[in-house]
Amino acid sequence: MKDRPIGMFDSGVGGLTVMRSVIDLMPDEDIIYLGDDARGPYGPRDIEEVRRFSWEIIDYLLGFGVKLVVIACNSATAAVLEEAQRDYDIPIVGVIHPGARAAVRRSKRMNIGVIGTRCTIGSGSYEDALARIDDRVAVFSQACPEFVDFVERGEVNGDHIYEVALGYLEPMLDAGIDTLIMGCTHYPLLEGLLKEVTGPEVSLISSADETAVEVRDILERLGWLREDPPGRHVFLTTGDVDKCAELGRTFLGPEVRGVVQVDLESHPVLESLLGEKDES
Ligand code: DGL
Repeated sequence: MKDRPIGMFDSGVGGLTVMRSVIDLMPDEDIIYLGDDARGPYGPRDIEEVRRFSWEIIDYLLGFGVKLVVIACNSATAAVLEEAQRDYDIPIVGVIHPGARAAVRRSKRMNIGVIGTRCTIGSGSYEDALARIDDRVAVFSQACPEFVDFVERGEVNGDHIYEVALGYLEPMLDAGIDTLIMGCTHYPLLEGLLKEVTGPEVSLISSADETAVEVRDILERLGWLREDPPGRHVFLTTGDVDKCAELGRTFLGPEVRGVVQVDLESHPVLESLLGEKDES
C-alpha cells in the first residue's frame, strides 16, 4: 500500500491549494490530481449532480489503485463525503471537517462565520460539522457565488471585489464573528482582501493545511506513508490543458508542468503518467 499514490480531485484547479499543503507536508508521496474542469465549477450546480460527478471521479481514481482519496473541494465534500466514507474501503478525506476543527480550536467566543459556494452553504455541512465538534458554536453562513469567478479572472483585490466582499461579510461581522472559515478552495487566494474586510481581530481559517495533517495522520496510523523520495505529481484534467496548467501554477506553484487531458472512460497507464523521478 505504501507505494501507491494518493488520489485527489476537485471541480477544477481550486483543490490545488489543498495539494500544495499535502506536498509541503508529505513531499515523498506520489499524488494524482484530477480537476473536473469540463464540468466545473460545481458551486452553482445542484447537489445531486455534484454527488454523481464525485462518485464517478472517486471510482476513476480507484482505477489507478490509489491508497487514499482527498476530496479537495468543499462542494463535493458536502455532496458525497459521508456516503463515500461508508461505501469505500480505503480512507476518504474531505475538506470540511478539518476546517471546522481548526476553527473551533481558534475561536474564543465560539462565533464562527463560514463562506463558500451555494452548493456548500446550502448543504448545511459546515453547521453540522461544527455542531458535532462543539454544540456551543454559533454559525453565520454566507454563500459568495461571485468569488470563484473573481479568482479565476485573477481579480483578487481592487475596489470592485472589495465592495462585493463587504456586502457578503458585513452581516456576520455585525453579528460578532471572531473566526471565518474560507469554505471554498478558491478563497485562500483572497486571504489578503478578506483580511482587509474583516480586520485583524477575525482569524481566517483555510482547511488546506488541516486536511494535509489529517491525511498524514491516517497514513501514519496505517503504516502507509511512502518512504522513497521524491514524490511524483500527476495533473489530470477533463477540460482544457493549457488553461488548467496556467491557472494551476497560480494555485499550486511551478510544480504544475505537464497536464494530461482524460475522459473518465479510460485510464492512461499509471507508470507512464508518473514518469521518471524528478530529482529537482
Ligand atoms: N472547489 C470548489 C469548492 O471548494 C469551488 C469551485 C466550484 O464552485 O467548483 O467548493
